[in-house]
Amino acid sequence: MKKILSVSLILACCFSAVAGNKNILPYKDASLPVEERVEDLLSRMTLDEKIAQLNQYSLGSNDNVNNNGEMVKVLPPEIGSLLYTADDAVSRNAMQKRAMEETRLGIPILFGYDTVHGYRTIYPIPLAQGASWNPDLAGEACRVAAQESYDVGIDWTFSPMVDVARDPRWGRVAEGYGEDPYLTSVFGASAVKAYQGDDMSEPGNIAACLKHYVGYGASEAGRDYVYTEISRQSLWSTYLPPFEAGVKAGAATLMSSFNDISGTPGSANHYTMTEILKEMWGHDGFVVGDWHAVKQLVTQGMAPDDATAVEYAINAGLDMDMTDNLYMPHLASLVESGRVSVDRIDDAVRRILRIKFRLGLFEHPYVEEKPENERILLPESLDVARRLAEETFVLLKNEEDVLPLKPGQKVALIGPMAKSQKDLLGSWHGRGLAEDVVSIFDGLSEVLTEAPAYAAGCGFEGDDRSGFDEAVKTASEADVVVLCLGERYSWSGENASRSTIALPEIQEDLLKAVKAAGKPVVVLLSNGRALDLTRISPLADAVLEIWQPGIMGGPAVASVLTGKTNPSGRLTVTFPYTTGQIPIYYCQRHPARDGSQGRYQDIPSTPMYEFGYGLSYTSYDYGTLTVSADSFTVNDTVTARVAVTNAGDMDGKETVQWYVCDPYSTITRPVKELKHFEKKLIPAGESCTFEFEIDPMRDLSYVNWKGERILEPGDYYIIVKDQKVCITLE
Ligand code: BGC
Repeated sequence: MKKILSVSLILACCFSAVAGNKNILPYKDASLPVEERVEDLLSRMTLDEKIAQLNQYSLGSNDNVNNNGEMVKVLPPEIGSLLYTADDAVSRNAMQKRAMEETRLGIPILFGYDTVHGYRTIYPIPLAQGASWNPDLAGEACRVAAQESYDVGIDWTFSPMVDVARDPRWGRVAEGYGEDPYLTSVFGASAVKAYQGDDMSEPGNIAACLKHYVGYGASEAGRDYVYTEISRQSLWSTYLPPFEAGVKAGAATLMSSFNDISGTPGSANHYTMTEILKEMWGHDGFVVGDWHAVKQLVTQGMAPDDATAVEYAINAGLDMDMTDNLYMPHLASLVESGRVSVDRIDDAVRRILRIKFRLGLFEHPYVEEKPENERILLPESLDVARRLAEETFVLLKNEEDVLPLKPGQKVALIGPMAKSQKDLLGSWHGRGLAEDVVSIFDGLSEVLTEAPAYAAGCGFEGDDRSGFDEAVKTASEADVVVLCLGERYSWSGENASRSTIALPEIQEDLLKAVKAAGKPVVVLLSNGRALDLTRISPLADAVLEIWQPGIMGGPAVASVLTGKTNPSGRLTVTFPYTTGQIPIYYCQRHPARDGSQGRYQDIPSTPMYEFGYGLSYTSYDYGTLTVSADSFTVNDTVTARVAVTNAGDMDGKETVQWYVCDPYSTITRPVKELKHFEKKLIPAGESCTFEFEIDPMRDLSYVNWKGERILEPGDYYIIVKDQKVCITLE
């Protein structure tokens, strides 16, 4: 049974069952189809009861520092949803009991929370997950998150964030899967399926929420909450695809975005929320506004007052108001004056009830109050978190094979990140605690025969260089230095924009000082965005990007540094040379002039580390790329193949990235577009064949500014690494 009721409630339920279906109201009859139950319940509701369903309350601020809500002292029991922040299910069950027993119709409350990359077992941030190129493993982590959330009484997570983002100054790049629409679509869909399972009413499954709909990642100059300039063409080709994929994967809900989309804020946007989402894609779940997004329509200069903001939002298709507490006071009079129709209210209520029914909340409104040791930080959950972390690390540089560390080497572990626990959690770390995190120092100490010699050297920022001497001394007494630099957990995430993506000067200076000790230096980077490594990379012998790896960061680092695990992560965001190159991403369109023209005169125009880049401790030889046919019709399938040999002496996982290039099209297309990828373990000395089954309409077509797919006859290139092969559509 999904949510275990107290003994008396179980008995009450049994009684209904024994009494037979005829004795219970149709909406309470689980044997009836959901739609029938929705309609029955809706027909019994007063306007006030309907409006109550359209509100999400929070008990004051949630645990997002940017969200300080008005303290709701008395929570009306008829509400649609509650943003729930607690460490156990007790208060949830008490609140739910009021909804079930003290209201006329007994409609359960939907409890929502930001379980973004784990509830208590915090695993790598989404940006890191993308770099694993292993959506199934990321899905396993989402299953852990769902189970821990479910067991604490959360029915609904505000995840995954599928905002394509190409400006690393924007702090929220940490929360998405990177710069590519296809990769984001694959990871987003995997997360949705993992959270929701096949049947949301099954134990351990929770509803997903695709956010932020849409275009939030296009924030101007990386500032948060601001205007975004998005043409219809870019909307369709860059920002909408991951949402469409998430909707196809069955996402129960979406969250409207804060950003003003070329003049119409996401939370008042009829085109995106109603015409595209509900009419074109047929989504039958609901849209929740982002925190105070309705009120912000006033701040954004659209609605002159709160009532008009409500009118704009609901009429555009925003079904549930997150914590503004504006739908409740304004909707009834807006209906009375004809500014909002009852039909629109009914539609929104229907959508919310549908999800509550699909979650099985009417049958199982309560959650078993389990002890902590049965629901959080379970050994198998920690194992998933560690395995995922290991696969997210990207080896950016490895001169003279300084990595993996050699047995018996004396290691100096230096830098502000070396012993940090909280920073490895990253932003949006749910109920994750710093004390749960195994630091890099502790992780390495576990596996090295001699614990590393440690010196912090300096803090993350500031001018205090008094620790440099000790750091240099520690370095000079070791065989190899592992220098742990990076960003604090709060430097990325919401409201965490930065004007430069370089690390603070003091960290770069620490590297210079330590390097002068003459020992090989491995720079370990933990951060929530792409960084400017122009002054770091040349000084380092090796660079390992570990992102914000979560609570098992330390053991994962130890495993990769010592070569127990071969690094297999690849970048899903371009690392520019400097902040001035932003926006820089791999799938740009062709410029009008080739060659040196139009390039920066003072810096390179190419990135430092490109999308898809990442080294390994072994080497992979790619065989010749072949295709099953040179020409094809729209109804054919063409198979492209490439054999990859692990030519080194260490087993490794390789990801083959398949790109498509359409050299000439009536709507210009990017120089290349990722269309498929696959990651496989290739034992040392062995070969594996990778395939890409090309479905012309799915993989070669393009979308126009109205959302129509276009497939033009002519040549297409299939690209793998440095090989490309031409196929022709007749
Ligand atoms: C964020 C959302 C989040 C919501 C609830 C907002 O400020 O933009 O991503 O889900 O708060 O915490």
